[in-house]
Amino acid sequence: MSDIQFIDDVEIKDKKILLRVDFNVSLNPNYLTIADDARIRQAIPTIQYLLKKGNKLILVSHLGRPKGKPDPKFSLKIVCNQLQEYLPDNHITLINDFMTEPATTFKHQQKDEIYVLENSRFYPGEKENDTEFAKRMAALAEVFVNDAFGVCHRSDASVVGVTKFLPSYGGLLLRKETEMLSKALYKPEKPFVAAIGGSKIETKINVLDRMMELADHLIIGGALANTFLYAQGIEVGQSLVEKDKKDLAQKLLFKAAQHDTSVILPSDCVVGDPNELEIGGLVCKVSEVPEDKQILDIGPETKARIGTIIAKAKTIVWNGPVGYFENIHYRQGTDFMYYAITNNADAVSIVGGGDTLTAISKKEYLEKITHISTGGGAMLEFIEQGTLPGIEALKK
Ligand code: 3PG
Repeated sequence: MSDIQFIDDVEIKDKKILLRVDFNVSLNPNYLTIADDARIRQAIPTIQYLLKKGNKLILVSHLGRPKGKPDPKFSLKIVCNQLQEYLPDNHITLINDFMTEPATTFKHQQKDEIYVLENSRFYPGEKENDTEFAKRMAALAEVFVNDAFGVCHRSDASVVGVTKFLPSYGGLLLRKETEMLSKALYKPEKPFVAAIGGSKIETKINVLDRMMELADHLIIGGALANTFLYAQGIEVGQSLVEKDKKDLAQKLLFKAAQHDTSVILPSDCVVGDPNELEIGGLVCKVSEVPEDKQILDIGPETKARIGTIIAKAKTIVWNGPVGYFENIHYRQGTDFMYYAITNNADAVSIVGGGDTLTAISKKEYLEKITHISTGGGAMLEFIEQGTLPGIEALKK
């Protein structure tokens, strides 16, 4: 990332700064409370760093996927309230519509005031990366700082478009994310263990492909694993499986063998009914899954194998739960992954992906993880391509 300038490489002081953050936090089902505010917390160092240098900040972020028009469910109001808790000495103001807000509001912004523009996806120009829209947003400031690693895989106006109009820099979180991931991927201490869970092969195909080249051990969990089991001729009952991806899974396994990467698939599992909340599942071999049941978690034998591999790892990258964590009976495998990783004090560990941490029951050892990535899709794409559109846009 040496071709990008980060805010601590240069002197930016007494400027008006448009700061792109990723405040796309997970909300509880009622949309009234925040389920996990890690993305807000991780933005604080950059905010404080820039404030200390006498800059005035205008924050911009998206939340959820509103379709180019205002949707109260996705208002950043709730985020502003949370941000205010972390920055008690500043005054956080939500700007409902920066396009119609009188210019005097921005002119009279005080140094202790932080403006937060309402959800950028309330405007159609955001996703379209519309030049006029980007220009209007850029006109609010003198400098652009991108600290939103989590959305750098999107070519949105507030990520890519605005860089055409303002001197642009990376923030401290963007620096940390890219440096940590690059180090793990390009100079990993060995053994390098990658653990990829989740459900769809399609969203993980490229990262799996890359990990087949890079990792010494690749642990595959979640519904993703079912497709690989199926590709090996194992019948998996009613489990989620992408039968049309059988060839693809076989090709990936072949590639792993060529690269001497050991692929760890579950050998036993917990089967049951995902909607049954009263009764838990049953443990069985993956070759003995009853016809009417679904694989919903990894079993004890698999956990033991995974545990041994993770304990010896020097670099660990984990993305995606290994079971159907939404039902409490099937989250033990994912919790186990977390404990195994946090127990290995010698390894550099990187955990990311929106649902990975949401899936864990207790979070008491979070500080034992070397780096918790704020990126879901962004982390995967960065692993695949080594860069992202939002990062490229800063290279000028
Ligand atoms: C994320 O949560 O991965 C980022 O905030 C990007 O959100 P998006 O997938 O809706 O573009």
